[in-house]
Amino acid sequence: MAKRGPTYTCQACGAVYHRWQGKCDACGTWSSLSEEAQAAPVPGARGASGSRARGRVFALEGLKGETQDAPRIVSGIGELDRVTGGGFVPGSVLLIGGDPGIGKSTLLMQACAALALSGRRVVYVSGEESTGQVRLRAERMGLSEAPVELAAETNVEDIVATLGQGSRPALVVIDSIQTMWSGEVESAPGTVTQVRGSAQALIRYAKTSGACMILVGHVTKDGQIAGPRVVEHMVDAVLSFEGEGAHSFRILRGQKNRFGATDEIGVFEMTGKGLSEVSNPSALFLAGRDQAAPGAAVFAGMEGTRPVLVEIQALVAPTSLGTPRRAVVGWENSRLSMVLAVLETHGGLRLGQHDVYLNVAGGLRVNEPAADLAVAAALVSSLTGAILPPESVYFGEIALSGAVRPVSVAAARLREASKLGFEAALMPAGGAEAGDGSGLSLRRFGHVTELVADIAARAPRRDVK
Ligand code: TYD
Ligand code: MG
Repeated sequence: MAKRGPTYTCQACGAVYHRWQGKCDACGTWSSLSEEAQAAPVPGARGASGSRARGRVFALEGLKGETQDAPRIVSGIGELDRVTGGGFVPGSVLLIGGDPGIGKSTLLMQACAALALSGRRVVYVSGEESTGQVRLRAERMGLSEAPVELAAETNVEDIVATLGQGSRPALVVIDSIQTMWSGEVESAPGTVTQVRGSAQALIRYAKTSGACMILVGHVTKDGQIAGPRVVEHMVDAVLSFEGEGAHSFRILRGQKNRFGATDEIGVFEMTGKGLSEVSNPSALFLAGRDQAAPGAAVFAGMEGTRPVLVEIQALVAPTSLGTPRRAVVGWENSRLSMVLAVLETHGGLRLGQHDVYLNVAGGLRVNEPAADLAVAAALVSSLTGAILPPESVYFGEIALSGAVRPVSVAAARLREASKLGFEAALMPAGGAEAGDGSGLSLRRFGHVTELVADIAARAPRRDVK
């Protein structure tokens, strides 16, 4: 029989040890182990005698058969519905993570109010704020009239029992999962075991009742949802709510979604009356653009199915350090190194004595390789002092050979640029779509050297300085 005694659980990753140690071997976090009572053996599992409990016999089904497509609950907040894949699925569980103060409670209260006003039963359980505080927030957003049912509770058994009363709610919000505790788990609230146990109980309720459940999750300093990663595996969808402190807009991003795509983003702006939807993010990201300065190029990108234009800013300046500095905000560091290496090798640029700073304006994070061409243009423009042609957008992937490779959905990118008043697009030479009808003048590049030569030709003459 296995030795029973206290176990130590890593609060960062959930790894379990029989002895305390200073560092978690699994995730490398220091001082994250805390003592927890051992979980009770799973009922029905192989017992000490080795005999198996008798199971219930159930019928197996084929892939073909009757299933109705789950009718989705549309919140009416377009940007939220876009990220969830067209509305909440009954019986599903969503986890929303984000920094403190980013607006998770605000967004969820707005979603609750919208659904409640459409006649559905909605329950909002806050474990962090009193009902008075929640009410004040709703008042501030002008949502006091919405028949949302509120509670400030933290015990999962009580919550599940209360939810079982009356008609089945369409939506239940738990704000936040880290504050919940279950009497069946012998650990302090907030520990990994408690979070996991509470999540399990709530998920079981959602699956059996058919209510949609939204769990709010705190994030740690490095942006992971705090508590065990297992919660992320247990839920149907994980969304993250992000934003830069200095900017008023927020981005809702799907990280995992069993019922939809994960590459869609929802853009919101925090106002004095809650979050308002931004249905045309390009206009927002391009606001306040300085077109007369070198080092800025507009990238025609895609976020999911939606084209989004953003400005890419580069600053290339002579360094005073032994090892030049490379700093990136909003793009991948390794990708910048790659573009720099290609420009040095094939474009003849000398950047070894220069610091390089790259910034995606407005706080958006770009993940597409299609941004390579815009990044290269911004870098060359900053280095040479050449101002890029105004009203132009850039997109194209750069290969290690220096070739400019075609990217997907060029037509949608061109259409968006044309809609926002741009006149020209600088893009890869290959690719089938011409994007006809967009009205833009198209300049095509097959190799990065052509781009460098093109920009260098616009540079002010150095000897004039
Ligand atoms: P909140 O939803 O409480 O954040 P979270 O639940 O993610 O911790 O939002 C808190 C911030 O939002 C707070 O700094 C104030 C700001 N805010 C507004 O600017 N306008 C509003 O109408 C509301 C309700 C909040
Ligand atoms: Mg909150």
